[in-house]
Amino acid sequence: MITPDLNQKSANIADPVLKVSNLAVSFGRGRYLAVRGLDFDLNQGEVVGLVGESGSGKSMTAFSLMGLLPFGAALDSGSVIFQGRELTTLPPKERRSVCGLHMGMVFQEPLTALNPVLTIGDQVSEIFRYRMGYSKAQAQKMAIELLGQAGLPNPASTLKNYPHRFSGGMRQRVVIAMALALSPQLVIADEPTTALDPTIAAQVVLILKTMSEQRQTAVLFITHNLRLLTGLTSRVLVMYAGLIVEETKGDFSDPLHPYTRGLMNALPPLPSSGQSKRLAPIAGHPLSPDERLNGCPFEPRCPERLGVCATVCPPLTEKSGYGRVRCHLYYHA
Ligand SMILES: Nc1ncnc2c1ncn2[C@@H]1O[C@H](COP(=O)(O)OP(=O)(O)OP(=O)(O)O)[C@@H](O)[C@H]1O
Ligand code: SF4
Ligand SMILES: [Mg+2]
Repeated sequence: MITPDLNQKSANIADPVLKVSNLAVSFGRGRYLAVRGLDFDLNQGEVVGLVGESGSGKSMTAFSLMGLLPFGAALDSGSVIFQGRELTTLPPKERRSVCGLHMGMVFQEPLTALNPVLTIGDQVSEIFRYRMGYSKAQAQKMAIELLGQAGLPNPASTLKNYPHRFSGGMRQRVVIAMALALSPQLVIADEPTTALDPTIAAQVVLILKTMSEQRQTAVLFITHNLRLLTGLTSRVLVMYAGLIVEETKGDFSDPLHPYTRGLMNALPPLPSSGQSKRLAPIAGHPLSPDERLNGCPFEPRCPERLGVCATVCPPLTEKSGYGRVRCHLYYHA
């Protein structure tokens, strides 16, 4: 097991690894609201899902945690406390250093994370040589051990090859291995299996789960595919129009929010169930990023809306023994 001593700033083990408060991101000088104020935390070694429709702000959340917002995007407000340190006010160089050592990221398309003109060996060994100061031989040994843990069949020969020689699933295993190489406290995986077929996706998820468990690394797992989260996550954050509307159990049992229930109803039955059902898509369209919030963001599409819903956005409220939900059906001021 690779457990480098990173001389990290000590944080109380009981504190969350990551604590995010009121995070808001916009484009076009505040005109387009991508993320409208998120509050959540992640504990050590915990795998938490982040789900929501396309455009709900999942990737912008991920990028803002890593300090990697694209050109034109700005952090309007919020605090990101990682291992007891506020990241949003750190000088860029210091933030890069903290994120480089203690956070990892896995993207949807592994080719974007791998350099096509360097061998896998050069790219994996480099982490140990330049981040940890190991010799070339030591770094290569570590790289072989790491790729073996990621389930690559012949790690020593894998090192000599270039990324294009491998399938998407194998490349994603390499990227996951690289993200977890230094046993970071947090890995953010943004749709890491969307480009893979279902059987390969399941294998890749299992590798991520096993490797993160071994290292006690917390994972924020972003996906469209609710089925992938079964057995993987302890909690799931459901995003809608740049807000968390529900924090529910990892197995999605008893969802409360009408949007989460709509997502569940829209899932096709598992082939193994032998059942057939008519899919029930959620009617209407999500809030556009240039629309301001007058009431509940889901109100125009909600089959259970109340009179108050069009004018008052409900707060995200704790439900004892359950999680949190943002809905007037459960909120009594
Ligand atoms: N460069 C940009 N300029 C303006 N708006 C943008 C830009 N990039 C993203 N957005 C907007 O920010 C919002 C959030 O985008 P984000 O990429 O975080 O969504 P997402 O939930 O990750 O979607 P997907 O599931 O499709 O990956 C979207 O409404 C999107 O249109
Ligand atoms: S607050 Fe109202 S409109 Fe929004 S989800 Fe709940 S019931 Fe529906
Ligand atoms: Mg995205």
